[in-house]
Amino acid sequence: MFGAPVSSLHFCQDGQVCRQLNVHTETQTAGAAGQWSPSSWQAKPAAQQPAYPDPEALRRVLAHLARLPPLVTSWETDKLKEQLAAAQRGDWFMLQGGDCSESFEDCESSAIASKLKILLQMSLMLVQGGKRRVIRIGRFAGQYAKPRSTDLETRGGLALPSYRGDMINAAGFSPAERTPNPELLLRAYERSALTINFIRALIEGGFADLHHPEYWELGFVANSPHAAEYTRMVQSIGDSLRFMETLTGCVLADINRVDFFSSHEGLHLLYEQAQTRQVPRHTGWYNLSTHFPWIGDRTRALDGAHIEYFRGIANPIGVKIGPAATPDEVLALAKTLNPQNEPGRLTFILRLGAAQVDRCLPPLVESLRRKDTRVLWCCDPMHGNTETTRDGIKTRRFENILAELENTCRVLKDCRAHLGGVHFELTGDNVTECIGGASGVTEADLTRDYRTQLDPRLNYEQAMEMALLLARLMEQKGR
Ligand code: PEP
Ligand code: CO
Repeated sequence: MFGAPVSSLHFCQDGQVCRQLNVHTETQTAGAAGQWSPSSWQAKPAAQQPAYPDPEALRRVLAHLARLPPLVTSWETDKLKEQLAAAQRGDWFMLQGGDCSESFEDCESSAIASKLKILLQMSLMLVQGGKRRVIRIGRFAGQYAKPRSTDLETRGGLALPSYRGDMINAAGFSPAERTPNPELLLRAYERSALTINFIRALIEGGFADLHHPEYWELGFVANSPHAAEYTRMVQSIGDSLRFMETLTGCVLADINRVDFFSSHEGLHLLYEQAQTRQVPRHTGWYNLSTHFPWIGDRTRALDGAHIEYFRGIANPIGVKIGPAATPDEVLALAKTLNPQNEPGRLTFILRLGAAQVDRCLPPLVESLRRKDTRVLWCCDPMHGNTETTRDGIKTRRFENILAELENTCRVLKDCRAHLGGVHFELTGDNVTECIGGASGVTEADLTRDYRTQLDPRLNYEQAMEMALLLARLMEQKGR
């Protein structure tokens, strides 16, 4: 059993005492150097963890969570790892997208179906442009915890804990709403289960059938300046399918279902630990709350708790890489998180900012190449291009997002590597949060339908356009 005596309490990177280090669970073993267990991270400094006022309530919730059934299976995560290995070889391409942060409020059928539709539509374009199969990973069914730059938010002289995502506290500005509440962990788990259940049912029922791409059309597709190009693409895919079926005399059954995987930032380590399981006939430990957990740019410290936790799970995992990452650090991350150099295990999600790619990326690629280290290079063109308008609204410009994609693709190719995936913050709704794109959202439009609590997302038309332009880029580059 492991329990931190008061004198060994660790400090988070943001200076906050991680009180929950005192929480015991059945499976804990002390984290002697090199030895891993689902709780060995508790001996390391854990950044970005909430401070719960009632440790006993937290302990009860975690014990409950640890008994609840998993949300995904180890077979699914192993399958995803194989597909990511194929993307590393250049045979597949990964598309990951969804909200910056899911909200409990939006756990309803039309919002979930819209997210599925936009990812399906984008993936069709990428298949067409890249001539490769596409792995679809939603940033959903668990994306409920957020890193924040400050622990406290002050309004009119009142300082309260920052909002850290619906899994931790509520966005409203009152002491009751902002106090971290462990019951919300259960609510997040349940909503993740509801979301994943609905997605599985839709897919099982033929929603993602390539014979019927018209099922995925969102209401306002006709207004999009790219509607005609998209419709032409879809028709040509339908024609090719029918041609093959006529030729072979059989229905291409495998085509009427596509795979969908879930992902979220593995930020709240007590939650992730509670869903970390051993599975009969499989070796190792799996995080069964999601297929593809990732480590954020702010929590990837080599000696920190997140790296310790992630190094021991068997899932395919991602790490966000910002412009401050050094070549040595990136190499050490790869060695720690994937010591066997296993294909498909590790994805680096670059989020350097359009203007930093040319300077930052080549030395990173080179340091991995020198040691023959395998990773999948993915581009998140959102998080390095966030800005605040004169009116204090957080936004991103379409042209900068596109420029980061183009630059990353070009630089990787020049370094004899390749872009194997993309990561977007987007929504199937027609919000006005990002500026630009052919539909012409301007700075003045931002207030019209700005809904996000956190980062600005591409709206439906912007996401479609981005996918079309990316498909063209992939066509030109031949990979
Ligand atoms: C995010 O993906 O919402 C996020 C916080 O990203 P990053 O870790 O890259 O800053
Ligand atoms: Co974000």
